[in-house]
Amino acid sequence: MRHLDTLLNFSTDDVQEIFAIADELKSQSLQGNREPRLAGSVLTMLFEKPSLRTRISFEAAMAHLGGTCIFLSTAEAGLNGRESAVDVARVLGGYSDFVVMRTFEQSLIDQFAQHAGCAVINGLSNDSHPCQALTDFFTMREEFGSLAGRRVTYIGDGNNVAKSLAICAGLLKVPYVVSSPAGYELTPDFLQQLKRTIPDVDITLIEDPHAAVNDADVVYTDVWASMGQESESNARKQIFGPYRVDADLMAAAATGAKFMHCLPAKRGLECTDEVIDGPTSIAFQQAENRMHIAKGVLAWLSNVNAK
Ligand code: CP
Ligand code: NVA
Repeated sequence: MRHLDTLLNFSTDDVQEIFAIADELKSQSLQGNREPRLAGSVLTMLFEKPSLRTRISFEAAMAHLGGTCIFLSTAEAGLNGRESAVDVARVLGGYSDFVVMRTFEQSLIDQFAQHAGCAVINGLSNDSHPCQALTDFFTMREEFGSLAGRRVTYIGDGNNVAKSLAICAGLLKVPYVVSSPAGYELTPDFLQQLKRTIPDVDITLIEDPHAAVNDADVVYTDVWASMGQESESNARKQIFGPYRVDADLMAAAATGAKFMHCLPAKRGLECTDEVIDGPTSIAFQQAENRMHIAKGVLAWLSNVNAK
């Protein structure tokens, strides 16, 4: 049984296959053709944190593909101590073809993958956001025609999004630079695990954001305080100030560089309105592509698990 729990157990071919299905389904969908490939399938969502894009992109994807979605908060599902996580996983797996989860702990998603008996998809944990990273490289590939020769710089917190982008960049052989304030970098543990899994990964940490965007074709940022870190917001505003993506920082990137953001954005903090609403921004194209990648992931999992 394959899952999308982390991209660390994905191959380059797996990612390319998902992109190929997403390409096909996106172009069909744009022509008004919504082939019900997953007719009769059930997707259950279990979320511990809020969501706009992840929840609705999967709901829309399942509607287009002819399936059904059921949404529950983890508390409603009984994960507040009413019963054990393993029992919830086993029960839900009996009703569902897919479970999409959004959690604090990555280990809860891993536990479901082990016990649910159906495909489990990570819709964000504190450690990773694989559906987002797949969407982001799919969007870059669409925007530039190909990823060959492109360079990506991530500015800001070494968080879940920064990590999943690092793995996807490694799988797709895209050089990746991360620029974070001291103390907020990608951790040595993560970097070790990444290099062990993808030995030829091309990743560089550069503290100075202006130096980091030099030659970048994509400048990517995310919130300075992620869900669960709200109490650190004020302290982080001081620390991350020099890491705001503004027109000046975009001007230091390669000619034609694009701005990306997974959203939701704290406008005026990690990026200015001028940048996110400006001509270099592809943040809303990214958001739309979440649905096309959701379809690619669902159809791919359904194919590989049927073999
Ligand atoms: N980018 C993203 O995952 O958005 P949501 O938190 O709204 O799902
Ligand atoms: N790093 C952010 C991403 C939101 C999509 C968070 O975890 O809140």
